[in-house]
Order: sequence, then C-alpha cells, then structure tokens
Amino acid sequence: MLSSFRLKIVLWYSVVVLSTLLVFRFVSEEVIRDSLYEDLDNSLRGEVEWMRNLLEAYKTKNLPDDEIREEIDTRSILSPRKEYIEIYDVAGAEYFRSSDLELDELRPLGHGALSEAITIPEFRNRPLRLIAAKDSTFEIYVGYPMTDIDAAIDKIASSFVLLIPVTLVLIFAGGLFLVSRFMQPIQDLNRYADELLQQPLDEELPQIPVRTKDEMGALIMRINAVIEKMRSSMRQALGFSSLASHELRTPLAVMRNQLESALRPEVATEVLHQTVASTYDEILRLNRIVDDLLSLSTMEAGTLKLQRQPQDFQLLLKEFHEEAKLLAGEKNITVLLDEAPPAQVAVDVLRIRQMLFNLLDNAIKHTPPGGWIRLGYKREGHGVLLQFSDTGTGIPASQLLKIFDTFYRASSNDSGPQGAGLGLALVRWIVAAHQGDISVESKLNQGTTFIIRLPLAEALAK
Ligand SMILES: Nc1ncnc2c1ncn2[C@@H]1O[C@H](COP(=O)(O)OP(=O)(O)OP(=O)(O)O)[C@@H](O)[C@H]1O
Ligand SMILES: [Mg+2]
Repeated sequence: MLSSFRLKIVLWYSVVVLSTLLVFRFVSEEVIRDSLYEDLDNSLRGEVEWMRNLLEAYKTKNLPDDEIREEIDTRSILSPRKEYIEIYDVAGAEYFRSSDLELDELRPLGHGALSEAITIPEFRNRPLRLIAAKDSTFEIYVGYPMTDIDAAIDKIASSFVLLIPVTLVLIFAGGLFLVSRFMQPIQDLNRYADELLQQPLDEELPQIPVRTKDEMGALIMRINAVIEKMRSSMRQALGFSSLASHELRTPLAVMRNQLESALRPEVATEVLHQTVASTYDEILRLNRIVDDLLSLSTMEAGTLKLQRQPQDFQLLLKEFHEEAKLLAGEKNITVLLDEAPPAQVAVDVLRIRQMLFNLLDNAIKHTPPGGWIRLGYKREGHGVLLQFSDTGTGIPASQLLKIFDTFYRASSNDSGPQGAGLGLALVRWIVAAHQGDISVESKLNQGTTFIIRLPLAEALAK
C-alpha cells in the first residue's frame, strides 16, 4: 500500500499542509498576542493620562482629595477592564489604591516609573501588565490582570487543535480524490502497456485515450506517436524481410528450373548455351537485388558512411552520359546531356553513380524504343538542380508518392522483367544522405522527370 504513488503524494502533501498550518498557528498566535498587548498598553496609557490630568486639574483648583479619590474609584469601577490603581503623592505617601488590591503593592514591581509597559508573570496567581508614570507631584501605577488576553489566545490555540484533525481528514480524503483523478491517465497508460505486452506487435491496437489538453495529455500524445512509430518500423522490418526473401526466391526458382532442364542428357549444345546465358543473366539480377538490399539495410540502419569528396558535377555527368548512351542504345533510346556550367559538389561518387544508374535503369525499362532520355542541371541557390527526364510510359498520379517506398512497383503496362522495387528507395536514401531532396513529375504516355537537388560543396563547408 505504501508503495502506491498516490498514497505517497497524499502523505507528502498532508505533511506540507500540516507544517504550514502549524507555522501559521504559531505566527498568528504571536501576531494576535502583539496586537492585543498593544491595545491593552494604549488603554493603560490612556488611563494614566486621564488620572494625571485629573490630579492636575483638581490640584490647581485646590479641591478636596476625597473627591478626587472618589472620582478615580468610580472610574475604575465603571471601566470595562478590571484594573488595579496605586497613586503616591510627592512625599511618597500613598494617595490612592484600588480596594481590591488589598495588601498587595504595585510600586515595588514597577521600580518607581516605567517608560514601557511590562508583564509581571506572577501577580495573584496570574500575569499582570503594568504601567507607571511619575512626575513632580504624583507617582501613578496601573496594572491589568491579563486573564482576558490569555483566554483569547488559548481559545485560538485550542481551535487550532480542533482544526488540525479536521483539516487532516479533509486533506487526506480530498487529496486522494484529486490525485486519483489526475492519475487516471497513468492508469490508462499502465493498462495499455499490459495490453501491448500481451499482443503481437504487428497487430492493430487502439491509441491511449487523451483525456486532457494539459502536460499529461501532451505526454500521452507523444507516447502514442512513439508507439505508432515503433510499430510502423516493426511492420516495415517484418515486411522488408518477408518481401526480401520473396524477391530472392523468384530468381532462385528460375535458375533451378533452368539448371534442371540443362542437366537432361538429351539437351542440345545450343540449348545448353542459351540456358547457361540465361542463368548468368538471372545471377546478375540476383546479384543486383542482393547488393541493393545490402545498401538499403545499411542506409536504413543509419550505418552508411558516405565517402564524400569534391567533384565537378559536369564531369561526373559527362562520364555517366557516355555509359548511359551505350546501355540505352541497345533499346534504340537516345540519351542527351544538356550543356551546363561546372559546379563543384561534395559527393560520394559511387553512391551518386548508383543513383544515376537506377534512374537510367527505370527510364530505359519504361521508355519504348526510339524514345529519349534527357539529362541536365543548373545551379540554383546553394545547390545544383538535376533533371532526369524520359519519354516513357509515365507513372499514374495516384502512385507518384509511393514509388520511393521499398519494394513498391507501380502498375504499368510494360512488358519485360519486373524489378524488385528497390531502385527508387535507394535513390531517395542516397539523395537524403547527401542533404538533398528529390521529387517527380510524370504524365501518362508522355514521360517522367525526376528533379534532384544536391548542395554545392561550398554550401556544405559553411
Ligand atoms: N522513369 C519511369 N517511368 C515510368 N515508371 C517508372 C519510372 N521510374 C520508376 N517507375 C515506376 O516506379 C516503380 C518503382 O521503381 P523502382 O526503381 O523503385 O523499382 P523497380 O524499377 O520496379 O525495381 P528495381 O529498381 O529494384 O529493379 C517501378 O516499378 C515503376 O513502375
Ligand atoms: Mg528501378
């Protein structure tokens, strides 16, 4: 039970509130005590002042002392505060004393005169606040038993004693209620994690409900996003390996059939030659798929290290153009290279050639004999903008976004061997690894243009 997060929060919270309450109790007691004392002192000073004025007035008018004494007596009886009064005349003889003082004396406690009121802790079994004034004619002492003040302060203290358990119960119950409410999303999370652990990872799971728009809601949204990302990369990885094995199975099956037929004893030498040549082609195809898969998996795992070096883009394209002409020429397709100014790029030449040959392979595959492939670039901003166009079959608009996905093959009416759907995925990775970007425009039966942006060497050096 104590390990419960909720309980811990509520306990800590209760300790904090309780401590605040106790501090508040002591501080308020002090403040109230001070202000009551101040009130009392003011009224004591008022009394002394009143007596002094009275004595002075009577003296100047030379009235009888008994009258003065009576007036003081009446005043002290009528006063809402029960006070003790002691007055001595100039000779030090007792002039007046409250009747209820009996034999107890204030003068020895006040030492003649006091500039400030003081508290006598024990006077007739209770504390006494005492004030004194002395002038050339009289010595006046006024004392006030502090029973009222102490009773008021005791009342406050005892009301706190009552308040503390009530507050504790309220804090505890209210705290538990509030914390339970706020912990609801965490409970959802726990339940969801349990479900997640029990289900196969590639299965669909509902998202964790986002109940609030606060930090907790934001956290859950983020967790949802992280889980979705992990699941999609999981699905991708599963898909990748199953598709990869599928892709390898087809050429292997073809080769097995070809070799089986070649092994028949009655097979003619000419057919044998053809079979070996065709198996060789199949091995080349297999080789390419394995190479592409290897490249893709190193790129996707983020372990691909580019060997970047400064390179004139114009020169690189010229060399590629020579090779492209030979390859496309077999299908009677013309490859054109537009004139362009030199541009220094920092690229991994092998990877950029891999990119170009993949684009060329696609263009040749999807362009009918007699068609054109056109290459050109211009400098734009801090990069080069390469256009790779063909006059081929084009790609349906609905599939334009998907063609860069691994293993994706757009539906086409081209005959001829199907690819593995890896080429453009590789192209996209290579471009991205060079901090570039790629886009495609295509019109059905008119042609396709790939537009690739690569940064200039100077832009990378910055
Ligand atoms: N120049 C193009 N003209 C028409 N369609 C194209 C062109 N380039 C790509 N495509 C379409 O995009 C799809 C994906 O291309 P991608 O290069 O990734 O795979 P692939 O060529 O089928 O296989 P691989 O390149 O692995 O041999 C192709 O199947 C094709 O339908
Ligand atoms: Mg391809």
